[in-house]
Amino acid sequence: MIPGRNALPKQGTEDEAAKDQEHGTTGARLLTTIRQAIYLLGREQRKRWAILLGLALFTSILEIVAAAFVYLLLGLVANPSGAVKLPLIGDARALAGDMPERTFLLILIGVMIAFFFVRAAAAMGAEYVMNRMTANTAANLSAKLARGYLSLPYAFHLKHSSAELIRNAHQVPLEVVNNVFLPLIRLMAETILTLGMLILLIAVSPIGTALAVAVVGSSTVTLMFIIQPRIKRFGATAHAMHRDTLSSIQQAFQGVRDVKLLGREKFFSEVYGKRRRRLARMLYTNLTLAQSPRYVIETSLILFILVFFAVTVARGGTQTALATLGLFGYAGLRLQPSLQKIAAAFNSLKFATAPTADIHRDLRIIEQNIAATDTGAPFPFEHEIRLEQVSFAYEDTLSDALSEVDLTIRRGEQVGICGPTGGGKTTLVDIIAGLLSPTKGRVLVDGVDITTNLRGWQRNLGVVPQMVFLIDDTLRRNIALGIPDESIDEAAVREAVRLAQLEELVERLPQGLDTVVGERGVRLSGGERQRIAIARALYYRPQVLIFDEGTSALDNVTEQELMRALHDLRGAHTILLVAHRLTTVRDADRVVFVENGRIAGVDTFDGLCACNESFRAMAGAR
Ligand SMILES: Nc1ncnc2c1ncn2[C@@H]1O[C@H](COP(=O)(O)OP(=O)(O)OP(=O)(O)O)[C@@H](O)[C@H]1O
Ligand SMILES: [Mg+2]
Repeated sequence: MIPGRNALPKQGTEDEAAKDQEHGTTGARLLTTIRQAIYLLGREQRKRWAILLGLALFTSILEIVAAAFVYLLLGLVANPSGAVKLPLIGDARALAGDMPERTFLLILIGVMIAFFFVRAAAAMGAEYVMNRMTANTAANLSAKLARGYLSLPYAFHLKHSSAELIRNAHQVPLEVVNNVFLPLIRLMAETILTLGMLILLIAVSPIGTALAVAVVGSSTVTLMFIIQPRIKRFGATAHAMHRDTLSSIQQAFQGVRDVKLLGREKFFSEVYGKRRRRLARMLYTNLTLAQSPRYVIETSLILFILVFFAVTVARGGTQTALATLGLFGYAGLRLQPSLQKIAAAFNSLKFATAPTADIHRDLRIIEQNIAATDTGAPFPFEHEIRLEQVSFAYEDTLSDALSEVDLTIRRGEQVGICGPTGGGKTTLVDIIAGLLSPTKGRVLVDGVDITTNLRGWQRNLGVVPQMVFLIDDTLRRNIALGIPDESIDEAAVREAVRLAQLEELVERLPQGLDTVVGERGVRLSGGERQRIAIARALYYRPQVLIFDEGTSALDNVTEQELMRALHDLRGAHTILLVAHRLTTVRDADRVVFVENGRIAGVDTFDGLCACNESFRAMAGAR
């Protein structure tokens, strides 16, 4: 096996992502993306975005009025005697009444100056609201996803890498806002603007407008058909690469010890570099493609205006055509960016297909999950924990990790759990702790299924896991994990420190309980880390203590002292002790021997030694 290779995520997953998205017509798919994105907004946010849309449409209308003003002014100046026709208003010259020509013009210019000031202020205001909405929507969605992912069952987390979840919660919401919501708003605002301009143009020159639409429209639509499928694929690949770059750099730093010892710095940095560059390629190719309609629109528009001008000149009508040309020129100038934005909006929506679908799916899972759990009520435990015919299979595995386990643990009992590695001990205690739910059978506490109130049951537990997790913070905050400083019970921390045999360490450290332990506790020894985890489990003085190899890093003397301290607690506490080291469980009331996912024997230590051959072999082998 190549060291380090298995630490890297699978390659080529982006192609699967792309394949997922291949079904359905372009139009139907686009609507799906839009529907999914709208679902991501809460009801409150949806209302706000509707208001923002109204605002954007209003500024579009102001743009149309601006174009009408320019046309009006040009018309009046270029053709002092003729009529200047406007949609809705008719002949603008009639507005002047008996007013002298000059006064009318000056008033018009004055009104225009005021109007353009208002227009600028309105556009800026809309811009501010839009930026604020964008940033806040992304932040809210990120927070919602982070909260949601944390609320999902442990089994979900066994299937999804942290890199994937970090990407989805931390980065994808902003992408979706930028690539779906903003483009959608822009799409609608620019469509209104374009339609308004077209109405204006049709009123002035119906044939010219029809020709312009035909030329510009057909070339743009053709281009879009060519580039859209590609953009969707780039979007899916970029989405996958966001996860894979994150995962490769995260793992390299987390595993820096092994990476350095094995001298694999180059391998890891190259893998990261390769993925990062692939991501860059996706981004710049997409950007270029997404902007390409601009050039097509621009060129066909200019071509059209020039041809139109040539035709007018050939017919000898330069005088009267000047205002029309002015309007086409202005409208064209103003329309070009609009059309370009519409095309770019469609491209953004395509690019965001995969990420939107991803967080939409996850949010649905999250929302269904929240509906199912957390009642807040306590879960009384007076008599016994009983496992009834419990079987468990990890997802995507062929055989059961636990099969048909029957076990009763009485309150106040100290139960040792032993067995060969991979036998199912961790699975067993994770099921008792409600981290995993049995595929068959049930876990009953005083006759009540723990799934009826999982959080309530878990509040009775203190668990020291096989793999200790510490946050990069002080000892105190590691012991009282996730509790705000002002709510930390100092006496409980001290007591947990005493029971976990940490007093000596705390005294030795210059900052005592305020010493920062480093990421994952790197500034501590293995045994110190484990004792902090024990103190954490003891902090709430839980009724049930579960040690999954929770003392394996301690020397015999420290372990015995811990056991003695725990022994004094017996009666009040039910203790489950998973251990490879059999001395750990020698004094337990009963020992459960787990082998191949089954309970091969339950007895006192000596009883098991006497009647179970595998257990005797394990005990003898030491
Ligand atoms: N997330 C998982 N997905 C698939 N299989 C798993 C997963 N976790 C554990 N297993 C498998 O389930 C079986 C039981 O694992 P478990 O961790 O319960 O063993 P264990 O008795 O605690 O072993 P050890 O003494 O080494 O800690 C093993 O074969 C293991 O490979
Ligand atoms: Mg284990």
